[in-house]
Amino acid sequence: MNNFVFQNPTRLIFGKGTIATLATEIPTDKKILMTYGGGSIKANGVYDQVKDALKNHFVVEFAGIEPNPTYETLIKAVDIVKEQKIDFLLAVGGGSVIDGTKFIAAAVAYNGDPWDLLVDQDKIVDALPLASVLTLPATGSEMNGNAVISKKTTHEKLAFGSSKTYPVFSILDPEVTYSLPKRQITNGIVDTFIHVCEQYLTFPSQAMVQDRFAEGILSTLTELGEKIVDDSTNYNQMSNFMYSATIALNGFISMGVPQDWATHSIGHELTALHGLDHAVTLAIVQPSLWRVMRDEKKAKLLQYGERVWNITQGTEEERVDAIINATENFYRSVGMKTKLSEHGIGNESFDTIVGRFTQRGWMLGENRSITPDKIREILNGCL
Ligand code: NZQ
Ligand code: ZN
Repeated sequence: MNNFVFQNPTRLIFGKGTIATLATEIPTDKKILMTYGGGSIKANGVYDQVKDALKNHFVVEFAGIEPNPTYETLIKAVDIVKEQKIDFLLAVGGGSVIDGTKFIAAAVAYNGDPWDLLVDQDKIVDALPLASVLTLPATGSEMNGNAVISKKTTHEKLAFGSSKTYPVFSILDPEVTYSLPKRQITNGIVDTFIHVCEQYLTFPSQAMVQDRFAEGILSTLTELGEKIVDDSTNYNQMSNFMYSATIALNGFISMGVPQDWATHSIGHELTALHGLDHAVTLAIVQPSLWRVMRDEKKAKLLQYGERVWNITQGTEEERVDAIINATENFYRSVGMKTKLSEHGIGNESFDTIVGRFTQRGWMLGENRSITPDKIREILNGCL
């Protein structure tokens, strides 16, 4: 096991009826900016619950944070925060609204073009306090310091992670997920599954508890997947899904283990250049990446295959094939496509993507062995 330091300051408030606790979780002397997306919270009653809980607070609203939140939209909120002397941000929505709110929090405290914070996260030295009411289990943004922001003008999508941008608290009421469209449930299952893989499917590191914890989340998702796509109104099932998504990316399973994140890095480029949903890109990239990197990942693939899929028969190579196919079939079983061609996309962006990684000088993967040439091979396998 590698050395590690673990600290997660987010207070997690989980369960039925918990949105009402906003009334006491935020001091009444705070000037709040409530951020949200395109209106789903008005249709499903979450907006009314939040406004009711905050009826004795000063609240300014900022609506319209889009999926894959953009710098161009968020910068408008930065101006409002400064003009109105806001000192607390409350994100009500999915990962995009929470990420966008983290960016606003850090941008307000930065003197310079806030896009710098995506290029060099060490420039985040301060941020306004923020909290969240989560409506979509997927990203883990409700209990981590990460944000992924897009820039429309340049078709870029970059991430930062900072200890300054963890939510002070996050409220998770599984009942708010009942209104999710199937497409977002599918996205949430696949994103959560692949978050676990990015921290687990690397090479053995003698981290027995972390491995079992990761396998427990993966098995929970394979057990729940089709059921929650068919019916997203079962409280116990949605509770288990919501909790899985949070602990998949709040630091619990990454303690002392190697991490990959190449699927995410390549996926962000496909979103930036083609507008595909985040999880859609992951389901396309990961099976191809595993096929290209199968030798480096073999020991962990075999462990995962045995413990999550009960694949124990055949030669090692046959088992690796079966394990990757089982994973891809799982994504398909919850309604996810796994090839670029199924979205009408060919190889038109591959030169740009490989060029970007070459220019940035990034070497991806747990061994930093995924070179630009390997990225091209992985992309070719996505067609
Ligand atoms: O905008 P509204 O009207 O609210 O509708 C949203 C949006 O259209 C809708 N929605 C959310 N909750 C709902 C609902 N509809 C009905 N009922 C509800 N309860 O769902 C749509 C998608 O929302 P979005 O927030 O974009 O989805 P998600 O949570 O999957 O977030 C994706 C973003 O998070 C980033 C992704 O790159 C992407 O930009 N990620 C953030 C991470 C992090 N902070 O740690 C890690 C992830 O790997 C990921 O990269
Ligand atoms: Zn993700």
